[in-house]
Amino acid sequence: MIRVTAPGRVNLIGEYTDVIDGRVLPMAIDLAVTIEGERGGDVVELHSADETKPAVVALDVVDPAAASPSWARYVAGVVAELRPRVGFTGTVRTTLPIGAGLSSSAALEVAVALALGFEGSSADLAALCRRAEQRASGVPCGIMDQLASAAGRAGHALLIDCHTLEVTPMPVPEGIEVRVVHSGQPRSLADSAYAERAAALAAAAEVLGPLRLLDGADHQALATALDRIDDDTVRARARHVVTENARVPALAAALGTGDLTTVGDLMAASHRSMRDDFEISTPVIDALVDRLAATPGVHGVRLTGAGFGGCVVALTEPGVLDEGWAVRPSAGASVTET
Ligand code: GLA
Repeated sequence: MIRVTAPGRVNLIGEYTDVIDGRVLPMAIDLAVTIEGERGGDVVELHSADETKPAVVALDVVDPAAASPSWARYVAGVVAELRPRVGFTGTVRTTLPIGAGLSSSAALEVAVALALGFEGSSADLAALCRRAEQRASGVPCGIMDQLASAAGRAGHALLIDCHTLEVTPMPVPEGIEVRVVHSGQPRSLADSAYAERAAALAAAAEVLGPLRLLDGADHQALATALDRIDDDTVRARARHVVTENARVPALAAALGTGDLTTVGDLMAASHRSMRDDFEISTPVIDALVDRLAATPGVHGVRLTGAGFGGCVVALTEPGVLDEGWAVRPSAGASVTET
């Protein structure tokens, strides 16, 4: 029997910066998708306790986006990218909330690819699963979610350079609790809005060149560069990713030295940038962030993930919040055969 576990992720900072091949700081979490079963046959057939219908995917599937039921699209995306020679029959279960912005689909893709026998580096695994996600959902996502699930390290967040795919594990100090709190808002508009944000960033890059090369810490020089963009909305979208890209290594460094005031300031600045420049927050999420930020013992809090609903992430003293999930930085996906 083959047993695969692939974790979800929470992003500490660096939202939509993977779209410009910039930097992100996610961590794999101790909520995961698990697949158990056997290889063989000429279909991939997975049954899930959370879904009424199984995913049954032919090995020669051509249009993953048309697969049904809807969760089968992600399985089909992986099959179409991997083209395994033999199928698989088994079960899927998850401790990850589905559609909450904790990358349940990326975890499913990574788990399916490994169950089907993928061999290679975690960067190659993530790249394949990113393509699968894009084919399944039509969303032009970056590589962060799949790479966090594939390359997670227990006790560490991952500083990822999405241009080189270099992953640098950064210890999360023992005394810091990472808490994920759901806003209660489903992420229903996220797909079309995601594509619209990616298009705005591509338009900005037409004027300015690769946005990851701009220095988001030099505010004067950045303002001068951004002035070359005529469209107010495109300019604001670019300002978010360029300043966010600078906040990622700054947060990683502040976590490393235990400078929790700076951690909180950077998370607050990131949230404001997502709220005002990137416009991916909502009034409900803003109110949640404000309430948690004002709670004693909360070091920092911000929206996490693609936005338009979903979760916020808070770094806190242990035990000060009792809502949401306390998540631990966890190892990446793994396979056992018995
Ligand atoms: C989604 C995408 C990622 C990333 C985040 C926003 O999770 O799949 O690639 O862009 O949104 O940071």
